Amino acid sequence: SSRLPAHLHLGAPGDARAAGVAVTELRESGRPDRTFTLTARPATVTLASGRKVEAWTFDGRVPGPTLRVRQGELVEVRLRNRMPDLAVTLHWHGYHVPAGDDGVAGVTQDAVRPGGEFAYRFRADRQGSYWYHSHDMSDPAVRMGLFGMFVVDPPTGPVSPGDSTAENVTGHDGADHTVAVHTLGGVPTVAVDDRPPADGLARLPTAPGTSVRLRIAATDNTPVTLALTGTPYRLAAVDGHDLERPGALRGRRLRLAAGGRYDLTFTMPARPVLLTVNDRPDLGLMLGDGPPPAPQRGPLLDITAYGAARPLPQAFDQRLTWVLDRRLALLDGAPAMAHTVNGQVWPGIETPVVRRGDLIKITLVNRGKETHPMHPHGHHVLVLSRDGRPATGPLWMDSFDVAPGEVWEVALPADNPGIWMSHCHDLGHAALGMTFHLAYE
Ligand code: C2O
Ligand code: CU
Repeated sequence: SSRLPAHLHLGAPGDARAAGVAVTELRESGRPDRTFTLTARPATVTLASGRKVEAWTFDGRVPGPTLRVRQGELVEVRLRNRMPDLAVTLHWHGYHVPAGDDGVAGVTQDAVRPGGEFAYRFRADRQGSYWYHSHDMSDPAVRMGLFGMFVVDPPTGPVSPGDSTAENVTGHDGADHTVAVHTLGGVPTVAVDDRPPADGLARLPTAPGTSVRLRIAATDNTPVTLALTGTPYRLAAVDGHDLERPGALRGRRLRLAAGGRYDLTFTMPARPVLLTVNDRPDLGLMLGDGPPPAPQRGPLLDITAYGAARPLPQAFDQRLTWVLDRRLALLDGAPAMAHTVNGQVWPGIETPVVRRGDLIKITLVNRGKETHPMHPHGHHVLVLSRDGRPATGPLWMDSFDVAPGEVWEVALPADNPGIWMSHCHDLGHAALGMTFHLAYE
């Protein structure tokens, strides 16, 4: 985007894609560098404690297999639907795929019916921590288990998909782990790499001196509170994007919005390190041997005031306002307390039209009583301010919590033509009206 200062540009612009064509034409062709197949099917999942949960899975597991690729690769993921009675898609949450691969049933493709298949193809043009999930009837689909982690590693260095537990896997020195926080069958769990979800404390033996990266995703409809005890650490990346000069944190707790990802980095000390979830000493991840330390209860970090202060864009091509609220409305012909954007509910929310290259300023105002983790597809937004305070970071997000009474200003570079859904990632709220679109002219 021409109006975005050079220091804020987001890496490679991707392939030339024409505006004003059908989303199905906005797809990558060519020979994939890396191919995966994911099969959606029901399965009984055994949690670390031995407890069994009926789930909807990719390849019989929850989370589905961790997909790890290298930056620059053309990735193809074949989805096979073997659910008896459920349509399925794959959405690449936070990843800037071509619109035809965004996986939104009814918008970018038809849902894949039982017995059907669909191949997604996109260039992995940026690094970072992402996730994938089904996007038809998303609320039950994700809750029941149709999701997994998607990690793009640097262009060089070994990658071994499905074996992300190996310590030399990624070209980052040291240990690099995915951590998905998810409530499965009503049981809070923490799934580390491709191991069975722990309904307690997962354990990772980690040698002192190892540099550790934890890629944590919040996959429930609610935010996750994280506390890392036993070492100073850095919040190195938010929603897949590195922060500039993130300072060392000690004892600070973090809140991660539904759908969001935090990468935490630290050097493994001689004593154990404990990551707890939602302030429960018995749920999370233990690194190293020995008795777990008593979990921290430090103050929450304001991530909009962390990282480096950089000049933010001042000039915009278009301004949008999204007022979030609640009211009685008709949903599928029945009256319900709907979640609204500018007083309207899906599918009646106006679709703003943007031009490729525009920089859009969006002001979000939450007039309701619930937090809304807002998620624009196909783009990140640069946070400009929260309640009038300029943001540091630079903080690029694809899932951010707008709390009751809050006002967020964000900048969206319109650099990915198509029709893009935006919605609240409390997927129950999305189903109750808080779903809308952004279209390129
Ligand atoms: Cu992860 Cu439309 O969402
Ligand atoms: Cu919401």
